[in-house]
Amino acid sequence: MGIFHQDVIQLEEAGLYRQLKELRSQTGPKVIVDGKKLLMLASNDYLGYCSHPAIKQAAQKALHTWGAGSGSSRLISGNTAIFRDLEKKIAQLKGTEDALVFSTGYMANMGLLTAVAEKGDVIYSDALNHASIIDGCRLSRAQVEIFPHRDTDALETLLEKGKQFRRRFIITDGVFSMDGDLAPLPRLTELATAYSAQLIVDDAHGTGVLGSHGGGTAQHFALEGQVDIIMGTMGKALG
Ligand SMILES: Cc1ncc(COP(=O)(O)O)c(C=O)c1O
Repeated sequence: MGIFHQDVIQLEEAGLYRQLKELRSQTGPKVIVDGKKLLMLASNDYLGYCSHPAIKQAAQKALHTWGAGSGSSRLISGNTAIFRDLEKKIAQLKGTEDALVFSTGYMANMGLLTAVAEKGDVIYSDALNHASIIDGCRLSRAQVEIFPHRDTDALETLLEKGKQFRRRFIITDGVFSMDGDLAPLPRLTELATAYSAQLIVDDAHGTGVLGSHGGGTAQHFALEGQVDIIMGTMGKALG
């Protein structure tokens, strides 16, 4: 451990030193971890799609048709039709104009925030937003204003004070990843409209499980079409 020895000891003493557990079975309600049979209550595979027979079959078929990789980035020559079909389906599920697929949710937040926000802009971010949002905000070089968790009054005060910025964004998890509570989307959409801000919702945990058709947090609140940008992940309810 060399130069990190002391840091590791401090983490261990604080009960924050994490080690990887080894799964010896595919994920599902019952798993084998470190040789023990356990009930899985910690995963994000909310609908059991990771090991659903239809999904495994579709993945096998896609592998057979398209091979193991696309051979290049999408901008060069790797933009296979299967990506476009997927994006159209996601846009349909979310009730949005269009969709863009990234390789992970983390990359989606990086790509999104660095594309839409820059120096001279401001991002209002809920204090309990996911780490990938925090990193994306930093990388965008926009000013970041953190508002207390779900506190729309505090957010309004910040919006009132920040009229000099060129573009303004409000960003929140739809369903918060640690506590499972919901963003106050009805009030956030009102504030975004009143203060000409763009509302961005990270719906990693709402996608597939909230709303009448699994469309997510906006659908749950009957606010489809009123959130400017929705981000989601395919590594949770979608398996
Ligand atoms: C709210 C939220 N956003 C983004 C991510 C990142 O998604 P991924 O694991 O696909 O990189 C996660 C994953 O834990 C998350 O919980």
